[in-house]
Amino acid sequence: MSSSTSPIGIFDSGIGGLTVLKEIYGELPQEHTIYLGDTARVPYGIRSPETVTRYSFENTRFLSAKQIKILVIACNTASSVSLEALRTNFPVPVIGVIEPGAKAAADATRNRKVGVIGTEATVRSNSYTRAIRALDSAIEVFSIPCPLFVPIVEEGWTDDVITEMVAERYLSSVREKGIDTLVLGCTHYPLLKPVLSRVMGDGVRLIDSAIETAREIRGTLESLSLLNRSTGHANHEFYVTDAPQKFLSVGERFLGRKIEHIEKTKLEMEV
Ligand code: DGL
Repeated sequence: MSSSTSPIGIFDSGIGGLTVLKEIYGELPQEHTIYLGDTARVPYGIRSPETVTRYSFENTRFLSAKQIKILVIACNTASSVSLEALRTNFPVPVIGVIEPGAKAAADATRNRKVGVIGTEATVRSNSYTRAIRALDSAIEVFSIPCPLFVPIVEEGWTDDVITEMVAERYLSSVREKGIDTLVLGCTHYPLLKPVLSRVMGDGVRLIDSAIETAREIRGTLESLSLLNRSTGHANHEFYVTDAPQKFLSVGERFLGRKIEHIEKTKLEMEV
């Protein structure tokens, strides 16, 4: 049984979900967290919805066994294709990143032209277009997949001349549409913010769903009386499904703090 002192469970295909975790640290510093990065199977964004959903179930089973009180899908790809199935099949509350990102974008745009960049699977699912237009049907949404960004981030080339060339190639078409807001529809992409804002220019607001997602987690925990009110030290555990070295070096640099407890783990595969 989980209780208010149980941890928040978070998963992503790799290090991208750390962008959400960092905001959770800021918004909910007293909460214990367990982060799972499925680094053996990254990237998710090139896979079919069925495969991503199967991975999401395996990740959720792993985290559920650790008595989490809430699950955060810190991955746009998994949120796009498996949020409903996870909500139906697991008893814990489940938070995804699409709706918070869509809300932040709809609030930010002035000219009602919004760009969305994400993985192929996220763009194909149309989840952002639907979520943004459900909030304001007059908003025009221009989406493009940027599949090379995920391996670039996992490699740690977050501010590199190669990254800038790739960004220029991907983003020029969406820049020409005259958007004033760009949704970073993949949790890996906020690590590229300096490059992306250089390429898009000052007139374009970059939206990452992490801040809004952290607020939604707080709201959900509050409404269920599950906020951890104790003032003790918060524990932060990390699990990865492949060798942890790269995750550690890129992750610690991004989080700006030491990752103390990290383990390589096997997920129980479906039989
Ligand atoms: N960070 C994930 C996302 O938000 C997944 C990227 C990937 O594994 O392709 O979509």
